[in-house]
Amino acid sequence: MTVSATTRGAPRVVEAGDYRVTIAAGLRHDFAKHVAAVAPAHHYAILSDEDVAPHYAGDVVTQFARRGQASLHLMAAGEVHKTRETWARLTDDLLDAGCGRDTTILALGGGVVGDLAGFVAATFMRGVPVVQCPTSLLAMIDASVGGKTGVDTPAGKNLVGAFHQPAAVLVDVETLRTLPVAHRRAGLAEAIKHGVVADADYFDRIRAAMPELLEGNAERMLDLVTRSVELKAAVVRDDAREHGRRKTLNFGHTLGHAVELVSGFSLLHGQAVAIGMVLEARLAERLGVAARGTSDEIERVVRAAGLPAVRPPMLDADAILAATRHDKKARGGSVAYALPARIGVMAGQDTGWAIDVDDALVREVLG
Ligand SMILES: NC(=O)c1ccc[n+]([C@@H]2O[C@H](COP(=O)([O-])OP(=O)(O)OC[C@H]3O[C@@H](n4cnc5c(N)ncnc54)[C@H](O)[C@@H]3O)[C@@H](O)[C@H]2O)c1
Ligand SMILES: [Zn+2]
Repeated sequence: MTVSATTRGAPRVVEAGDYRVTIAAGLRHDFAKHVAAVAPAHHYAILSDEDVAPHYAGDVVTQFARRGQASLHLMAAGEVHKTRETWARLTDDLLDAGCGRDTTILALGGGVVGDLAGFVAATFMRGVPVVQCPTSLLAMIDASVGGKTGVDTPAGKNLVGAFHQPAAVLVDVETLRTLPVAHRRAGLAEAIKHGVVADADYFDRIRAAMPELLEGNAERMLDLVTRSVELKAAVVRDDAREHGRRKTLNFGHTLGHAVELVSGFSLLHGQAVAIGMVLEARLAERLGVAARGTSDEIERVVRAAGLPAVRPPMLDADAILAATRHDKKARGGSVAYALPARIGVMAGQDTGWAIDVDDALVREVLG
């Protein structure tokens, strides 16, 4: 990724309720300054994973060591380590390092580190501040904003957790340079989702900028992250605990989660969500809820991002359908979907942004 001089301008700031999201290229060199302003502490515990830390942790630890005690705590990278066991080991590590109530935790990594470090912060000493420093595109535009934290259990993803809003979110888009390209594409799925859910112009801008986004053009990434964070923050500000409008952000996720599960997590979350968005938009068109052509438009952008748009044939349609019924959002025998009316506008405002869909129709669309 090339970083042009213009991207090194003033940081972009998005208000997300009680905290701010600050976005800039090269921001990591100022993390300690920003954290000292919002969550000064005696001890700064930096939590990261073994893929991210070699690139970025050294400089960050050095900065914090000038302002107090600083310690680095690593986990192995990957969703399989987002567990209670890792939570237990990290909390023990913090105690061993002498962390007390006057500790601020930094989550330096992708969404896995963010969710886990957030949950450690929610529970350590009954709650200490966490500053989210996301390094994957998914974490920048989705996981780091909104205060959901937690771990997976053998029964499913994110089943144990807490709401714990960060003291701040600090985004350095330069860190996307080292993010594997498959993860960059997967993150774009959530940005496309934000366009569908809330902003047709943004959807068009993503389409137009796709080649540059895939190259990792820093200025385009800065624009993308900023707009997506604005959109997510606006929804979350209205509805922090997901009773209403926040449900619109589930677009693509009911079938997406089912596809992800049936793939045995061999698909990345963003890949599964891409398939889920196209299928759910088809459902919406069949129901007469969405304008005709909505799903084709989504499919074109999804494909341009190098993401899959159809159910991989080896994933059994009946198994996917069955998996939607285990979804946490399934209620009383019917499965509720967040569906678009058209690009930029969601349907179902009068039914709490959730529309019940018959299994038979879902089965048809799955093909
Ligand atoms: N809390 C929420 O609201 C929320 C929302 C969406 C997703 N999530 C969670 O986020 C997780 C997925 O996040 P993810 O896609 O970031 O996965 P991840 O954290 O596993 O990161 C993907 C991979 O990229 C590596 N990586 C991250 N940043 C890097 C960088 N800059 N350079 C090099 N390597 C880098 C990671 O080490 C990992 O190997 C899931 O557990 C999901 O449940 C949470
Ligand atoms: Zn998602």
